[in-house]
Amino acid sequence: MLAYSYKQHGVFELTEKQKPEILNSEDAIVRVTMSSICTSDLHIKHGSVPKAVLGITVGHEMVGIVEEVGADVKNVKAGDRVTVNVETFCGKCFFCKHGFVNNCTDKNGGWALGCRIDGGQAEYVRVPLANQGLNKIPDTVTDEEALFTGDILATGFWAARISEIKEDDTVLIIGAGPTGICTLLCAMLKIPKKIIVCEKDETRRNFVKKYYPNVIVTEPENCLETVNKESEHGGADVVIEVAGTEETFQLAWQAARPNATVTIVALYDKPMTLPLPEMYGKNLTFKTGGVDGCDCEEILTLIEQGKIDTTPLITHKFPLKDIEKAYEIFEKRQENVIKIAIVNS
Ligand SMILES: NC(=O)c1ccc[n+]([C@@H]2O[C@H](COP(=O)([O-])OP(=O)(O)OC[C@H]3O[C@@H](n4cnc5c(N)ncnc54)[C@H](O)[C@@H]3O)[C@@H](O)[C@H]2O)c1
Ligand SMILES: [Zn+2]
Ligand SMILES: [Zn+2]
Repeated sequence: MLAYSYKQHGVFELTEKQKPEILNSEDAIVRVTMSSICTSDLHIKHGSVPKAVLGITVGHEMVGIVEEVGADVKNVKAGDRVTVNVETFCGKCFFCKHGFVNNCTDKNGGWALGCRIDGGQAEYVRVPLANQGLNKIPDTVTDEEALFTGDILATGFWAARISEIKEDDTVLIIGAGPTGICTLLCAMLKIPKKIIVCEKDETRRNFVKKYYPNVIVTEPENCLETVNKESEHGGADVVIEVAGTEETFQLAWQAARPNATVTIVALYDKPMTLPLPEMYGKNLTFKTGGVDGCDCEEILTLIEQGKIDTTPLITHKFPLKDIEKAYEIFEKRQENVIKIAIVNS
């Protein structure tokens, strides 16, 4: 089968590989019908994911049809259309029982697919711990509608959940890339008083204005002024940082009102420092981390009910054989790309 693999630092390559087989009783083999490219794939390519293993098939955002299941897989069966979760988790360990599945202590726990084991930019993928890692897609939900459930949408949902958004809140989301927009969609479900999105790129600002006209959109230069004008207590009640630069990290705490919650979804390529003396008395609560992707069933229900629609994010589609071209467009942000669907015929 065709698979896109991590060949060496800076190089991914489309190669022929053996079709995966069931190795454990909780495995499932999924025929991938649609996958996508994520910013984290680029982080692997450029060496900023130390756990990534050379030679693995990349890709951790995908949907497909279950081809075969191991003896202990009860949640899904052959023929089911499913979303694949970016995280593998056992469901039984201390962290899983508390919903902190990102820190599952199983050897395949956390982000394994497309990082430590073969992922889904391929024709087939083996999913370990499939009872937890696969969710059935409702019949009325298309592959395109479900595509981001297991990764960026799970991230947005988790970010909105841990940020404890309330109806009186003014929420600031910094960064309107694919993950920022998914965070926006999930924050909107909490019906806060106001949502402000700060984004540097004009095309992306226009995207937010076009699809979510009730959202206040600002540029980084005017962000603090806008937030002060739009909030009642000298800053946003909740700030969610989904951009990932030094500047946005600093903006996140500066734009927060005293006693606010600041959620850091973004990953940085170097350590960030808080100027605690300057922040004295602001009494902020910081939340950080990798997504706990355990809400996929709820997310699929929300998609089915028409409450979340990520299809406008899919700006491009390519067949797997042309994935190299898709990466080039995604990486160089050509043609106003937001997300690319890789479609397997
Ligand atoms: N915590 C997790 O589990 C998790 C999961 C998924 C993604 N992420 C991280 O979330 C971040 C966003 O992911 P993405 O896929 O949307 O990436 P992206 O790079 O497409 O999005 C970042 C956005 O921030 C904008 N930006 C850059 N500088 C800015 C500034 N000064 N002010 C305002 N906006 C600015 C960019 O124009 C871009 O639109 C990345 O750091 C990614 O690694 C984390
Ligand atoms: Zn991802
Ligand atoms: Zn676990």
